[in-house]
Amino acid sequence: MASNSPISVNFFALVQEDLVRVEELMRSQADERQPDLNAALQHLLSSGGKRVRPAVALLSGRMLHGDWERLVTLSAAIELLHTATLVHDDLIDGSFLRRGIATLNSQWSPAATVLTGDYIFARAARLAAATDSVEVMRLFAETLATIVSGEITQLFSGRGNISRENYNQRIYAKTASMFELAAAAAALLSPVGPELVETMRGYGYSIGMAFQIVDDILDFTGEQATVGKPVASDLRQGLITLPALLYLNDFPDDRDMNQILDGNHIEEVVINRLISNIRESGAIHRALQEAERYVQRGLELLSVFPENSERQALEDLARYFVSRQF
Ligand code: IPE
Ligand code: IPE
Ligand code: MG
Ligand code: MG
Repeated sequence: MASNSPISVNFFALVQEDLVRVEELMRSQADERQPDLNAALQHLLSSGGKRVRPAVALLSGRMLHGDWERLVTLSAAIELLHTATLVHDDLIDGSFLRRGIATLNSQWSPAATVLTGDYIFARAARLAAATDSVEVMRLFAETLATIVSGEITQLFSGRGNISRENYNQRIYAKTASMFELAAAAAALLSPVGPELVETMRGYGYSIGMAFQIVDDILDFTGEQATVGKPVASDLRQGLITLPALLYLNDFPDDRDMNQILDGNHIEEVVINRLISNIRESGAIHRALQEAERYVQRGLELLSVFPENSERQALEDLARYFVSRQF
C-alpha cells in the first residue's frame, strides 16, 4: 500500500467528518499575501499523512463530551504543529522523501525551509489560542519546548551509545509528548476534572511511546515504498534506537556496532550487514513487545471510562499503533 493512500481502519470512521473540517481549517491558515508560502502549505497538506494525532484528540474529546468546535480547532493546531516539526526534522536529518514525495528541503534552501516551518508553527499557535483555553495554550507551548529541546539534545549528544532511560526520554520528547498533548488538551476542553485529564495524558503518553518505538522498528524492517520515507536511516546517521540497543545488549562485542558507537566513518557494506543482522535478531521482536506493553498500559487507563464507541475506537487506535506498517 502506498504511504499516502487513505487508511481504512475503522476507528477513523467515527471522526471522518470531523477530520474533513480539520482539513479545511488547516488549509485556511495560508497567507494570501505570500503565494510561495501558500503553495508550500497546500502541498504539505495534500501530501497526506495518517492524521493520527487529530484522531486521538477528536476521539478523546468526543468520548468526554467536549465542545466540538474547539476540539476541531485543537486538532488542526496539533496537526499543524506536527507538520511544522516534520518540515524542520527533514531539514535537520537531510531527508529527501516524506509521505512518498519530495520534502521541502529537497527543493528549497535551508533558509526558506526553516521559515516555512516557522510560519506553520505560528499558525498552529494561533489555532491553539483560538481554543480560548489558557491551559491548552500553556500545554501547547510546553510541548513545543519539549520537542525542540529534545531535537537539540539529539543534535549535540545524539550519537553513540545511550541508556534505555535516555532513549525513553528522547522518544518522549520527540513523539509521545505530542500524543500526550492531543489527549490531555482534548480532556481540558471537556467537562471533566483534573484527574481524568491526567488519565488521558497517561493514555496519550503510552500510545505515543509505542508509536515511536514502532517508527524505530520500521526504520529497520520497513520498505521505503511502503513507509514513504527513507528507511535504514537511523543507524546510518549514528542514531541508536531501541532495536539497536537491544541487539547491543545481546552482542556487546559486535564489531560493526562498536564501530558505529565510536563514531567512525562506516562503509556501506558494514552498515548493510549490521542492519540485516539486527533485522534477523530477536531485537525486533523484543522492541515490539516493549511497544505492546505501552499499548497495554494505555488500554488499562481507558478502562475507567464507560464502554462506548469512542472508547472502543481509542482502544482500536492504540492496537493499530503496534500493527501498522507505515
Ligand atoms: C512521523 O509521524 C514522525 C514520527 C513521530 C515518527 P507520522 O508517522 O504520524 O507521520 P504522518 O503524519 O503519518 O506522515
Ligand atoms: C521525527 O522523528 C519526530 C519529530 C522531530 C517531532 P524522526 O526523525 O524519527 O521521524 P521520521 O522517522 O523522520 O519520520
Ligand atoms: Mg527524521
Ligand atoms: Mg524515524
